[in-house]
Amino acid sequence: MICNRISLTDFRNIESANIELCDSVNIFYGNNAQGKTNLLEAIYFSAVGRSFRASHEADVIRFGSDFSSVSLDYTDSQRRQNISVRIFKDKRKQIEHNKVKITKISDVIGSFRAVLFCPEHLSIIKDGPAERRNFLDMSLSQLYPMYLRSLQKYNHILKQRNQLIKSAADDRKTFDLTVDSWSCQLAHEAAIISRYRYLYTKQAEKYLSLCFCEMTGGKEIPRLVYLTSLKGDGIDYTDVESTEKKYLELLTSSHEREIYAQTTLFGIHKDDLDILLNGRSARNFASQGQQRAISVSLKLAEGEIVKDESGEYPVFLFDDVMSELDDRKKNYLVERIKGKQVIITGCDSNFSDSLSAKVIYVENGSYRELK
Ligand SMILES: Nc1ncnc2c1ncn2[C@@H]1O[C@H](COP(=O)(O)OP(=O)(O)OP(=O)(O)O)[C@@H](O)[C@H]1O
Ligand SMILES: [Mg+2]
Repeated sequence: MICNRISLTDFRNIESANIELCDSVNIFYGNNAQGKTNLLEAIYFSAVGRSFRASHEADVIRFGSDFSSVSLDYTDSQRRQNISVRIFKDKRKQIEHNKVKITKISDVIGSFRAVLFCPEHLSIIKDGPAERRNFLDMSLSQLYPMYLRSLQKYNHILKQRNQLIKSAADDRKTFDLTVDSWSCQLAHEAAIISRYRYLYTKQAEKYLSLCFCEMTGGKEIPRLVYLTSLKGDGIDYTDVESTEKKYLELLTSSHEREIYAQTTLFGIHKDDLDILLNGRSARNFASQGQQRAISVSLKLAEGEIVKDESGEYPVFLFDDVMSELDDRKKNYLVERIKGKQVIITGCDSNFSDSLSAKVIYVENGSYRELK
């Protein structure tokens, strides 16, 4: 997967830009607050159909403008393609894939694949389970349209079921009559999603430990463990039917607790990943440097899985990654990214010497090619 060109209009501080990229390493450097992360945000937007950092989508529209547009040309193993996105102030969003209007986001996610690392991704290790679920969702949605569809269905059913639980105090009869139907549907989607998440975690763990050990030269081994509401050993998540049954049992035996809590207490919306280093929680015991190495390795692992599943590496977007790493880890990363398309930002371009890279200077939302 190669991102050939990106054109931006009124996106964040970028009034207008048309950037050609090379198919190996592209380094964007410049002072703080010039538009480096903004560019990666626009590229990643084309991959997942939304911003990775704006809580309101319209935030990406340049101050004083009515809309933002991003047009990205990419080449996959088949042919050259285009994704164009337009974001309006009134929250409307238009997406075109090869000039064809897209009405469902699931129809375009996974067409252009990118893996993003940004300093905030340390939160995957440091923060709560929602960050780790988001990591799984972003990665899996780009790989499997069926995963995204199940997740969308699950979230819809969960919303309905939660409403029903909330209304149980006033109307217990309706609750008793209809809750089982919602529980069945929820358990069905939960089992499908759990299977994907379980298999992904296994695959990611393999590459995570490989990259981490090579990167740190150490003997400490990271592990990833998939945690769900289904407690106990011996759960075979690859057996969707039996997992569905287990989720359903859990849901049907918890009505009183759920009515008391006013919400659905069990399901994949409560999933988590345990990230361990030498058997101990990385969140509580790993050093800052180790945590960084784990989060970068996790992103490299994500890229390897995309390659395994689709036959092609995704485009790697590394925001400010070098400033986070010591020399050994930097050198490892430089070696590791050779032969792939990487778009990397930083405040300097010193690390470019050993790479045949395109270097672009960023200033005030403008991009100037240096070599
Ligand atoms: N909607 C917007 N309209 C105009 N400018 C914006 C908008 N949103 C953010 N900006 C500005 O974009 C500028 C550049 O942001 P960006 O995050 O890309 O910086 P950066 O080059 O990555 O800097 P750093 O090295 O500090 O990470 C910031 O000064 C910010 O105020
Ligand atoms: Mg930045």
